[in-house]
Amino acid sequence: MYDKKIRIASIGAGMIGRVHAEILARMEQCDYSGLADVDLDTRKTASALGVKYYEDYREMIDRERPDGVVVSVPNELHATIGCFCMEQGVNVFMEKPIASTIEEAERLVRSASENNVKLLIGHHRRFNPMVVATRELIRKGELGDIVAISVLWGMYKPDEYFDAGPWRKKKGGGPILINTIHEIDNLRFIYGEIERVYAEVSNKTRKFEVEDTVSLTVRFKDGVLASVLMTDTVPSLWAYEATMGENDFFYHTKGDIYHFLGSKASLTFPGMVKVYYSDPKKMGWQYPLTTEQLNIRSRNPYPEQMKHFCRVINGEEQPRTSGEDALRTLCVTLAILESVEKRNPVTIEY
Ligand SMILES: NC(=O)c1ccc[n+]([C@@H]2O[C@H](COP(=O)([O-])OP(=O)(O)OC[C@H]3O[C@@H](n4cnc5c(N)ncnc54)[C@H](O)[C@@H]3O)[C@@H](O)[C@H]2O)c1
Repeated sequence: MYDKKIRIASIGAGMIGRVHAEILARMEQCDYSGLADVDLDTRKTASALGVKYYEDYREMIDRERPDGVVVSVPNELHATIGCFCMEQGVNVFMEKPIASTIEEAERLVRSASENNVKLLIGHHRRFNPMVVATRELIRKGELGDIVAISVLWGMYKPDEYFDAGPWRKKKGGGPILINTIHEIDNLRFIYGEIERVYAEVSNKTRKFEVEDTVSLTVRFKDGVLASVLMTDTVPSLWAYEATMGENDFFYHTKGDIYHFLGSKASLTFPGMVKVYYSDPKKMGWQYPLTTEQLNIRSRNPYPEQMKHFCRVINGEEQPRTSGEDALRTLCVTLAILESVEKRNPVTIEY
């Protein structure tokens, strides 16, 4: 229970901003007071949710004086809007990626520290109980020492997706920056820090300027390897968004997208089937394997993320994805693009 309601405002009511706005309007932990968007149509959304509409986010911050603000605007505006709010002493939830460039991300991190406010970045998958449980299981050593991880992601992005945003066909719009960044953050959150990446890409199918397919080799700092294969041009059962059901927009499928391979046991995800030899004296490819179904369910992470933001503002929790942490995910993702450019493995400089 909260003694005092946290005052929250939000900026941006597009695809994801609307999701946050609806959650905030229902949350008992906060008093959702204002919604700002340059698109005047947002007036209708604001009125339906019972919050005050502002065209100019600066005016909203000035009038509402919120404790925290939820920012869901295009990536290139993250640094300007985020820094403005923090300079006014407002705690910031910023959608992922933290920013488009390392320099802008560093500005945000510096601003949070200089203005003594909290900065939380929206890597929402970290709030899915299945992701959290897998991380804990691995950290407790239930799979033994992790040896390798595989990630498979295949979806079919329809023509209208590219017609609505022609930038998605050009540099800066490919699946590495839009989709691989999520897998990188998951790998870092679940397993640990990444040391080196090497990527091969192809645009053989769509023939756009950007890649439609990427094959990525990841080396973690402790020598564990991961193999990531992603394409946005195939019908497939295997993609995080499809199998986890976090967003109803995507057709829901069943299929395993990650395999965690450990010295004592392996685990499928999200199937959560653990595979091992039940008799440790009989370990070997000629012996039977035991399969065990773990009972952990996926849950919508977006409301959990907003509740966490309120607790962060209240000083009860530290940001699950701090600015520094999200900056490291951005560094790895940009290193993947550098590897493509240089046709070489790239060691990450954090
Ligand atoms: N975590 C997730 O699941 C998830 C999903 C989608 C997008 N995102 C991230 O959220 C951010 C927004 O993406 P989106 O898909 O919602 O984009 P969008 O284009 O659908 O929405 C952006 C909104 O920002 C508004 N806007 C632009 N400039 C503004 C300004 N100066 N002041 C106020 N409002 C302004 C636009 O009018 C628009 O309504 C991006 O950083 C994206 O990477 C995260």
